[in-house]
Amino acid sequence: MALDEASEVSEAQIAVHWREEELYYPPAKFIGQANASDPAIFQRFSEEHFPECFKEYADLLTWDRYWHTTLDTSNPPFWKWFVGGRLNASYNCVDRHLARDPNKAALLWVPEPEQEPTVAVTYQELYRRVNELAALLQGFAGVKTGDRVTFHLPMVPELPVAMLACARLGVIHSQVFGGFSGAACGGRIADSQSTILVTMDGYYRNGELVDHKVKADEAVARAAEEGMTVDKVLVFRRHPGEYASKSPMVAGRDFFVDEVIGDYRDALVEPVSMPAEAPLFIMYSSGTTGRPKGCQHSTGGYLAYVTGTSKYYQDIHPEDTYWCAADIGWITGHSYIVYGPLSLGTTTVLYEGVPTYPDAGRAWRIAERLGVNIFHTAPTTIRMLRKLGPDEPKKYNYHFKHMTTVGEPIEPEVWRWYYEVVGKGEAAIVDTWWQTENGGFLGSTLPALQPMKPGSCGPGVLGIYPVIYDEDGNEVAAGSGKAGNICIRNPWPGIFQTIWGDPERFIDTYYRKYCKDPDSKDWHDWPYFANDGAMQAADGYFRILGRVDDVINVAGHRLGTKELESAAVLAEGVAEAAAVPVVDELRGRAVEMYVSLRPGFVASDEIKRGVSDVIASEIGKVAIPKNVWIVADMPKTRSGKIMRRVIAGISNFTDVGDTSTLANPEVVDDIREHVQSEKRARGEVPKALSAKDKEEIGQFGQAE
Ligand code: PRX
Repeated sequence: MALDEASEVSEAQIAVHWREEELYYPPAKFIGQANASDPAIFQRFSEEHFPECFKEYADLLTWDRYWHTTLDTSNPPFWKWFVGGRLNASYNCVDRHLARDPNKAALLWVPEPEQEPTVAVTYQELYRRVNELAALLQGFAGVKTGDRVTFHLPMVPELPVAMLACARLGVIHSQVFGGFSGAACGGRIADSQSTILVTMDGYYRNGELVDHKVKADEAVARAAEEGMTVDKVLVFRRHPGEYASKSPMVAGRDFFVDEVIGDYRDALVEPVSMPAEAPLFIMYSSGTTGRPKGCQHSTGGYLAYVTGTSKYYQDIHPEDTYWCAADIGWITGHSYIVYGPLSLGTTTVLYEGVPTYPDAGRAWRIAERLGVNIFHTAPTTIRMLRKLGPDEPKKYNYHFKHMTTVGEPIEPEVWRWYYEVVGKGEAAIVDTWWQTENGGFLGSTLPALQPMKPGSCGPGVLGIYPVIYDEDGNEVAAGSGKAGNICIRNPWPGIFQTIWGDPERFIDTYYRKYCKDPDSKDWHDWPYFANDGAMQAADGYFRILGRVDDVINVAGHRLGTKELESAAVLAEGVAEAAAVPVVDELRGRAVEMYVSLRPGFVASDEIKRGVSDVIASEIGKVAIPKNVWIVADMPKTRSGKIMRRVIAGISNFTDVGDTSTLANPEVVDDIREHVQSEKRARGEVPKALSAKDKEEIGQFGQAE
């Protein structure tokens, strides 16, 4: 399809220059064994059967009490699923599998150092560890049903154990990505009002034993500044009995779990029967304002949704060995490393470190040695594996039946390498589009029944009815070649319940824009606004263009521009800051930071370093800017808003677009000259950008 007729496209619609890609059909061998291979499933999940169709997912769980109302819409948009039902998530992920297969590995944990042996945690062993930790949390830490506990844990088995221990007690867990700074963790502790922090002394990353406990001290201090006292810090040790951190243990506050757990040896804790709509966990997501959003997920709806989608879209069978190489600190890990796979009673692989450590063959050696047959990762990892070892997969004797890509749009060229080289042409691929807010997949192909199309996620998944609206709420037709805002017309069981502590922001961000009638109690009037741009091809497949708000996706980590800028202005001398993305071959995007200085300060490398340091400590190393540019003034609109797309254009050597609405258009040439001459001198001129990248840069921050 030629899509160059951009001239008619309104400001809200994004011109799209992608060409249509050819379809790939799943291998017969895959179809023969797939969980969903009968097209009748589409009929069962068609709109006329909504919401009762989701009974099929809920029936995959073991309920203590069955629900009486599948969907309660009495208080839009705070939907309630499976009302009246009671269940326990830990029971569903652990206890119920014991009778059939107690000695099967639930977790296979691969430490990063290759000489350390893989640890198999059987379902029986998982049961013991979850019970003991639940007893410790209850007895020693004094947590009660409904309390929040924050984890700042790396990729170790202790993390799923801790999640399931909380779930057993009906305690709400909040895992903060281990790579985030102590300050970021502290802010999330304060927001969720956790009195307990669970952490680890250290972990391996890129060959180094990282000191992690030091971040706990920073986190507790930051939480205290924000008014929240942490009573206890529970510290797992990477090597029990040895302490990997230089940070001293604080008497009366910090405790080694391996010491305290002795009092709870073989303790059993009855799983607490929770209402379906009780919160199971909070997962923070970057947003457009400085404060991250605590997405609150339910017990019954969430667990039903991730179990159903794991079964049909991930095609997980109990006898599979499934490896999702995401971090459990992100929603992908919660849903598709821990809750979905364990609820189905399969073997799920956890890898501690970097997939290319110590060399580009590592991931494939893991796959070969453990017999992984389902592989799940993100485009940023695929790009890295391809760059560092394009021929490595061929050297290893593994066979994937199924592979996933998630988290950002994948370039068709990269998709084809994934399919042909990683998948050896034998695997069905699903490109799954969804968000922290959603609990599980929204757009994808049902792997045995719908063909794959590189770069497109596919249609809405079972029971999800998407639509694209323009800025005025008119539907953008499939096949029109125009993009708009993708929305989901209906509620679904995995949707988050609210933003923790901020229901108004929940409504404002996701429902206000396209609500047809704020007084209506009919779900049809409350489409969910995903905040993503998308376009739909004539065949119904969606291509996701990325967030319409200002988020920079660095190697799969979504960093809010406002969060970055709020950190940058903490640096000595900085008056104003603007974060923009630069296209980065490996990480997808990198951050560039523009700052202007307070009077009396002179540009210096020291100030630039100060900006990078404060971003590293406030947010994390992943967010460190590729460059910090000190400018005399930012390009601004007459109302004083910074025009990020103009500086993004300069950083990426693309067209800066219309500057006539600026209050100070004269600064643009000065900034361009300064930034681009320095970039030229450093050899940082990017190769020609793809049409899609240009599009994104050209409209970055447009919402301002
Ligand atoms: O812009 C979309 C992009 O990632 C955003 C959600 O990020 P996060 O909440 O961190 O969750 C990531 C894992 C679910 C979306 O709003 N995104 C996610 N998956 C895809 C995607 N963009 C294109 N294709 C995908 N498959």
